[in-house]
Amino acid sequence: MESLLIKGGVPLRGEVRISGAKNAVLPIMAAALLTEDPCVIHRVPKLSDVRFMGQILARLGAEVHFEGDTVRIHARRIKGAGDYELVRKMRGSICVLGPLLARLKKASVSLPGGCVIGARPINLHLKGLEALGAKVTIKGGYVDVAAKRLIGSAMFLGGRAGPTVLGTANVMMAATLAQGVTVIESAACEPEVVDLAAFLNAMGARITGAGSPTVTIAGVRQLHGAEHEVIPDRIEAATYAIAGAATGGEVTLRGARPDHMRAVLDKLSDAGAKIERNDSDLTIRRAGPLKAVDITTLPYAGFPTDVQAQMMALMALTPGISIITERIFESRFMHVSELARLGADIEIEGPSAIVKGGRLLTGAPVMASDLRASAALVIAGLAARGATQVNRVYHIDRGYENIDGKLRRLGARIKRIEAS
Ligand code: EPZ
Repeated sequence: MESLLIKGGVPLRGEVRISGAKNAVLPIMAAALLTEDPCVIHRVPKLSDVRFMGQILARLGAEVHFEGDTVRIHARRIKGAGDYELVRKMRGSICVLGPLLARLKKASVSLPGGCVIGARPINLHLKGLEALGAKVTIKGGYVDVAAKRLIGSAMFLGGRAGPTVLGTANVMMAATLAQGVTVIESAACEPEVVDLAAFLNAMGARITGAGSPTVTIAGVRQLHGAEHEVIPDRIEAATYAIAGAATGGEVTLRGARPDHMRAVLDKLSDAGAKIERNDSDLTIRRAGPLKAVDITTLPYAGFPTDVQAQMMALMALTPGISIITERIFESRFMHVSELARLGADIEIEGPSAIVKGGRLLTGAPVMASDLRASAALVIAGLAARGATQVNRVYHIDRGYENIDGKLRRLGARIKRIEAS
């Protein structure tokens, strides 16, 4: 099993190219199931989650070919059952459900199960598909959906924590081939949903309102193939921006979308980081001591839950008290105990973590748990004095393309090692 060995204390300097967005490319790859024509998707990040999605599509009968940062998917003939082993390993694959239902009028996909950050239910996905006329049955850990035909309808997809990103994606994809018009209220507004809608419209779908809480889909008889370039990964970009601030360096993000990162950039400037923007490039540097800021995670365009852990690492280094409240997932503080091993002083009070920041962190072996918690540990290790070994690095490789290579190019002393 691989680990990352980091020798901290080096300010990161230089530029890093932002890869395509993992959370856009996964549903966009699934959307290729909606047509028997070939689809071509560019700026695909080399991530284990993306390779998994390719395996799942191939198991469903699609031809999938990766060439550099392009993937060609041709779902000429497909079958409707999702392989448990693969779906269980990656929750994001639940987004094949909507396209399979629309294309085959039936699908059987394993219930994704929970993960370390929460129960991850799919009740809202199923509510939306039922609203389109699907019959849903759950048995033996699988969810079966079937419909003679899909009929467009109006529905409300808000849940206890607000909208659902992949639930919106699933229902939006299914609705493209429904008869009549579908209106999704309380739709997720994330840029990844907007990117999916752009790809679907390029395939001949008729979607309006993506990016707003009300999305309208006028069903069409069939969709054709399309070519698309995926948006840059705003979470990866935020992670490198925070790493630059945490190490007291100066980092330029190439090919980012600052307009997708407003909440994060706002908090970083409140904390005292200097941010220069020009079109698709962003430079972040720390000019002087940082200030503690409070964070509450919210649906987009609020502060993203996927950047909560990374911001906590920064606040652990920043003198003062920072209250970080997680409103999206019920247990997304796995990184707290590992940050404490590096010397961070953090107390959890219900949905909030109280970070008493400003101590100098010292390196230690730590265990990665979920994707973004692992990124937080890397950031803390880059700023800590001494060596930090982040174990179970496969968590990071799910969502960060070549993280050690990109950090080395920024001057970090980091290498990948085989650990017991
Ligand atoms: C997507 O997950 C992302 N994953 C997550 O990123 C991200 O954290 C999350 O959206 C929130 O922004 C992908 O896009 C592959 P949700 P998703 O449905 O769609 C509750 C990462 O690190 N809910 O928006 O699965 C749910 O429990 C990952 O890249 C229901 O109650 O998340 C949660 O509390 C982690 N019922 C909240 O809604 C449902 O049917 C938001 O979940 C669905 C969700």
